[in-house]
Amino acid sequence: MAEAGGKGHFIVLEGGEGAGKTGAIAFLAAELGARGHRVTVTREPGGTPEGRALRHLLLSESGNDWAPMAELLLMVADRVQHVERVVKPALTRGEVVISDRYVGSTIAYQGGGRGIDAALILDLHARLLDDFWPDLTLVLDVPPEVGLARSRARLAQGAVDEGRFEGLDLDFHRRVRQSFLDQAARAERFARVIDAGRAVEDVQGDALAAVLDRLG
Ligand SMILES: Nc1ncnc2c1ncn2[C@@H]1O[C@H](COP(=O)(O)OP(=O)(O)OP(=O)(O)O)[C@@H](O)[C@H]1O
Ligand SMILES: [Mg+2]
Repeated sequence: MAEAGGKGHFIVLEGGEGAGKTGAIAFLAAELGARGHRVTVTREPGGTPEGRALRHLLLSESGNDWAPMAELLLMVADRVQHVERVVKPALTRGEVVISDRYVGSTIAYQGGGRGIDAALILDLHARLLDDFWPDLTLVLDVPPEVGLARSRARLAQGAVDEGRFEGLDLDFHRRVRQSFLDQAARAERFARVIDAGRAVEDVQGDALAAVLDRLG
């Protein structure tokens, strides 16, 4: 497993739809900034200009019916661009990089959800991304029923057309959740599971404690 390059720290938030990742990242960025850290907030898919076009292709509810393997390769293409252009340069500058999703989401959605062999995803990650893993992954864990209700309420407000995964059935989302939990159990030192079914302040407080612990 390759260490995160440079002198920065690479933190990733994972979890199903509506788990609270994006809100927690805004909180973490503010808290770390107040403590004097330089922070880059980014996301997958879509952490680069090129990736934003891929994000639209991948997440928009209207129009696209990707074969699972094509979906996987677009996710990986987004990641290669993101790591090369955003994540590694920021780590080299000594920053804390906080990404909203990373390879764990690919293992969970395209692996657990779509049924692609996780060994293939790990092999692509090893070959195409130099086996580049986060220093810490926080898995925000919530039953899909709860997360999807949160997420759909937000989508219904019509701000974004990103509902392609939200639209899939509950069994899909249960497999995604289980994959995240399995990954965290295997990664131990590098992953924390946070019960995201609680009040926002409790979830975000635990996330901050875990990050500060890792930053030393
Ligand atoms: N612990 C919580 N309790 C109640 N509501 C929450 C909680 N966490 C987040 N929410 C609400 O749920 C919605 C989704 O939160 P957020 O966008 O942070 O989740 P996300 O994991 O980024 O979702 P997505 O995967 O859809 O991007 C928001 O409207 C947010 O205010
Ligand atoms: Mg989000």
